[in-house]
Order: sequence, then C-alpha cells, then structure tokens
Amino acid sequence: MAFKKIVVGYDGSEYSKNALKKAIELAKCTEGEIHIVGVIKPIEFGVIDYITPEEIEEYEKEEETKEEKFLKEAMNIVNESGLQASYKILEGDPSEQIMTYADEVKADLIVVGHRGLGGFKRLLLGSTSSEVVKYSNQSVLVIK
Ligand SMILES: Nc1ncnc2c1ncn2[C@@H]1O[C@H](COP(=O)(O)OP(=O)(O)OP(=O)(O)O)[C@@H](O)[C@H]1O
Ligand SMILES: [Mg+2]
Repeated sequence: MAFKKIVVGYDGSEYSKNALKKAIELAKCTEGEIHIVGVIKPIEFGVIDYITPEEIEEYEKEEETKEEKFLKEAMNIVNESGLQASYKILEGDPSEQIMTYADEVKADLIVVGHRGLGGFKRLLLGSTSSEVVKYSNQSVLVIK
C-alpha cells in the first residue's frame, strides 16, 4: 500500500527536521500529502503547585511562540521542496496527540525522528517515538 497520508511529528529538533525531509521525499514518491503536527506540553502537575498563574501564562506564551517559530521553519522546508503541507499545533502529551491526530485524518503513516529536543544523548529512541511505535494504529517510520 502506498503511503498517501503522512503525519510528521515536529518538535523543532534537528532529528524532527530530518524526519520531515525524509517524509517529503517519500510523499513525492507516493504523491502523498504531509500533515505536520507540533505538540505543546502543558506544565507538569508537580510543578504547578509552586508557580503563580502569571508564570503559567508566561510559560504558555513562550511555548506558543516557540511553536510558531517551528511552524515557520517547517513550512520553509516544505516550500523549498515544492510540496504543500498542513500544520497543526496541539496541546497535551506529544505521543498521544500525534496518534489521535493520525487517527482523525486517517493517516497511513507516521514519521518521527528517533530523538527530539529532550532526552539523554545515549538514548537511541526517545519516549515520544517509542510510544508511537508501540501504540499507534498506523505504520511508523522512525528516522535515524
Ligand atoms: N512535542 C512534539 N511535537 C511533535 N512531535 C514531537 C514532539 N516531541 C517529539 N516529537 C517527535 O518525536 C521524535 C522523537 O522525540 P522524543 O520526544 O521521543 O525524544 P527526546 O525528546 O530525545 O526524548 P524525551 O522526550 O523522551 O526526553 C522527534 O524527532 C519528533 O519527530
Ligand atoms: Mg521529547
């Protein structure tokens, strides 16, 4: 089966940039469409007790600004390739949001990098990509 609807998880890391580029190459071969997803993580509950509402608001604003910057970067990469793509910013747990979105748009492939912005250097597979590989309904391509 050709991969026609490709969801790409984009967190702004070099790894996710690579993943996006590979997804573009693939979409060109399959005449597929690219759906980029960027997920903003809410502040963890353990932390919320110790910070003010103003600080939470500031954090959320910062995260949104970051996502908008990522969006521009991602769109530049896509535009350079001559393809078109949609971009969606979601809030919540990255792997869950990526998978829910992939179900919603009836994707047939999810592409992610093997690592992202966080994590340890020695880690071969980050938690987001590992969860997606384990639990998604779609085929997954992990770019190394
Ligand atoms: N917030 C996010 N929004 C969209 N895609 C994401 C997000 N976080 C990760 N991804 C996707 O998952 C890939 C792997 O990132 P992952 O989060 O698993 O690794 P990590 O950040 O190095 O480790 P960890 O998050 O477990 O500390 C990224 O290259 C990207 O494709
Ligand atoms: Mg991560």
